[in-house]
Amino acid sequence: MNPAPTDLTGKVAVVTGAAGGIGDAAVRHLEALGARIYATDVAPDYDGPATYRPFNLLDDAGLAGCCDWIAGIQPDILFNNAAIFDMGDVLQADLAQYDRLFGVNVRAFYAVMQAAARAMVAAEKPGSIINLASQAGHRGEALVAHYCATKAAVISYTQSSALALAPHKIRVNAISPGVIDTPMWGHVDALFAKFEGKAPGQKKREVGEAVPLGYMGNPADVARVAVFLATEQSSYITAQTLCVDGGNVLR
Ligand SMILES: NC(=O)c1ccc[n+]([C@@H]2O[C@H](COP(=O)([O-])OP(=O)(O)OC[C@H]3O[C@@H](n4cnc5c(N)ncnc54)[C@H](O)[C@@H]3O)[C@@H](O)[C@H]2O)c1
Repeated sequence: MNPAPTDLTGKVAVVTGAAGGIGDAAVRHLEALGARIYATDVAPDYDGPATYRPFNLLDDAGLAGCCDWIAGIQPDILFNNAAIFDMGDVLQADLAQYDRLFGVNVRAFYAVMQAAARAMVAAEKPGSIINLASQAGHRGEALVAHYCATKAAVISYTQSSALALAPHKIRVNAISPGVIDTPMWGHVDALFAKFEGKAPGQKKREVGEAVPLGYMGNPADVARVAVFLATEQSSYITAQTLCVDGGNVLR
């Protein structure tokens, strides 16, 4: 019996998208285990237990500033979480939407991961990188073309990066949330109301009822898995995407 430690005292974590539902929960869970948190989001302010700097990751200067900031922090843990959602099928989803979604969910996601990985390698720190994918990354949806593609890219980059960084003792894993009750879902529900003619709140209720466990998840459900992936509890796990979805995706 050799229980792995869950204490994160002395560890430094960067959390992107910290002002959102899942990001904020990750900040609070990692901080509760002793990690020192550096949080960022596009929001001007964030009221959580972290040193906070706002950056707009869709903006070249903002993204470069964020990457420089991460290089200076030299994190042990990255919770790579900032993302946006939008809808449209192949006839509607134009390149402006593609640029926005791929700009945040793939381009900035990749640059942030690269900055953290370079800092970990330079400091010779064994690290844990946790990328936020989605159930949408496992299966296309007619009305969600670009977003699904961005999240499939997150899963693929997680695998390639994990293999490249394994010799440096840096683990890279992803979490695929299913439907989690966060501010993002207010936006998703409003879009489904528009695209499918549903009443406000109807889509959110329907997706919760369709989950095998019978309800939408909450941000803490995801944050607890982030803690698992951040600590030595998961020391032999890398290149994986863990579904945190109440049974939605079977693979
Ligand atoms: N909520 C769900 O059901 C669900 C399901 C699957 C995957 N996810 C994924 O989980 C992660 C967190 O989602 P959430 O539900 O907490 O969403 P959220 O909208 O509550 O939080 C996302 C955060 O990212 C930030 N962000 C967006 N654009 C940015 C930019 N240009 N620069 C900097 N920050 C920016 C937002 O300000 C926001 O605070 C995302 O990667 C999302 O795709 C969520």
